[in-house]
Amino acid sequence: MANKQFVGIDLGTTTSGLACLRADGSPEIVPNADGERLTPSVVYFDPYEDVKLVGSSARDGGDPSRTVFQIKRYMDDPTHIVEIDGAKWTPAEISALILSKLKRECSRIIGEFEEAVITVPANFNELARRSTIAAAAMAGIKVKRLVNEPTAAALYYAHRDQIIGKTLVYDLGGGTLDITVLEIDAQRNVKILTSEGARHLGGANFDEAILEIYGAEFKKTQGGELFTNDGQKRRILQLGEEAKKMLSKLQRVTETVSNEGGGIARVELTREIFEQAISRLLARTEMLVEQALNSANISISDLDHVVLVGGSTRIPAVRALLERITGMTPRSCGNVDECVALGAALFSANASNIQEVANTGYGTLALVDDPDTGGLVFQNCIVIEKDTPIPCECSQTYCTSEDDERIIEVEITQGEDTHPRYVDVIGRITLEVPPNRPAGCEVTVTYSYDENQRVQVHVLDHDTGKSEKVTIQYRGAGVIDQRAIERKGSYLKKLRIE
Ligand SMILES: Nc1ncnc2c1ncn2[C@@H]1O[C@H](COP(=O)(O)OP(=O)(O)OP(=O)(O)O)[C@@H](O)[C@H]1O
Ligand SMILES: [Mg+2]
Repeated sequence: MANKQFVGIDLGTTTSGLACLRADGSPEIVPNADGERLTPSVVYFDPYEDVKLVGSSARDGGDPSRTVFQIKRYMDDPTHIVEIDGAKWTPAEISALILSKLKRECSRIIGEFEEAVITVPANFNELARRSTIAAAAMAGIKVKRLVNEPTAAALYYAHRDQIIGKTLVYDLGGGTLDITVLEIDAQRNVKILTSEGARHLGGANFDEAILEIYGAEFKKTQGGELFTNDGQKRRILQLGEEAKKMLSKLQRVTETVSNEGGGIARVELTREIFEQAISRLLARTEMLVEQALNSANISISDLDHVVLVGGSTRIPAVRALLERITGMTPRSCGNVDECVALGAALFSANASNIQEVANTGYGTLALVDDPDTGGLVFQNCIVIEKDTPIPCECSQTYCTSEDDERIIEVEITQGEDTHPRYVDVIGRITLEVPPNRPAGCEVTVTYSYDENQRVQVHVLDHDTGKSEKVTIQYRGAGVIDQRAIERKGSYLKKLRIE
């Protein structure tokens, strides 16, 4: 009997999945109403009926201009608006459609549930995390916790294989690469040491590489363009993805590709040509592995395990690469695209066993002494260092720099560089203080970082005791406005989503 109290959802770039815990504490995938264990993260807006199709029917169905793929890549970009039939959809709203399908259909099997743990890439920034929480709210799901995908996957491996020790989690999915170094102890406590990743590196890039090969081959033999619009491109990409998957098992595949003008070409793709085409991308993943081990202060010989997560780790060249770098045979649980959801379900019952770290640095801009010139320079002062165990609270005290400073303005930054140009200003707090004070009044800025990787900033003026607290607010479009979430939520409730 499934326990609907403990639900985990992997909201992926290519596929999404929902898992829950069985009564014996082991996790299981809950299929959707189409009988599939994983639901493609694709939405199709039908022109005839008021229905939003999500999943395989959306992916394989109609008009590409009415189909939304890979929306997760834009979760931190509220200006990425999808407009269909005059209606505008933000990435969070599109994601809410995917989550709604999972919630409705899986509830038929396990019963209605309110809460779930949802996974996000370790390097998802604050805005992308908030969009994910907003998407869930619109779908009627309360986010019990956001958890990083590699953490969830590690929990699954720890549960399944009883692995103990320093572990490298290599998660290569459809859209993102996440590399995490962590330590699992005998009690299955997981301590994250560091995460590195690339936001736009995954299976979709490999499909693009095949598309280029097909396009070039077609031009050579037929003398024209293989595709001239998005619809044709999508069709070829899908053929390319199929060929890619076959090449994980076979040495060569032949596809017939055609363009709108009736040109037809048979193109042969060997594993060798494919591996050559993706070699630069794989080299980048290798650099990130090295970077992660460096940040965690661990040498390869200290590693006890390498575990594989994400559909793209089925590519033999990916496994060979890891084997070459680490000298170990990477472990694969087989269902590499399900283990994040399974781990999220485990996490929903065992959250206290995880020690996570800050996924990036946070700081504030301030004038500091410049030893080179003897003057003052504007610098990003890091308050919370990347990889600080969380939840945490860190403070720094600054002095006002001018006499009669009436407004104290604290700019909140995200990033690890000391140069203001290389970090993002993600928020601002202003504090009004009395006039006629001399320079040098002390102000303490305290950052608290919660387990959902969300940051609160508190500014205290010592002299007056005045203080101000904010959870980081983004500038720009009012993306995640609470009332809009509620409005969209009640709209989605009435919508046919299948
Ligand atoms: N046998 C295979 N060989 C090669 N690639 C595969 C294979 N099976 C799946 N993939 C690729 O794996 C990717 C999907 O993996 P997965 O479902 O783990 O990603 P995701 O969770 O949706 O993405 P992300 O984690 O980046 O958000 C797709 O690009 C798919 O083409
Ligand atoms: Mg994934």
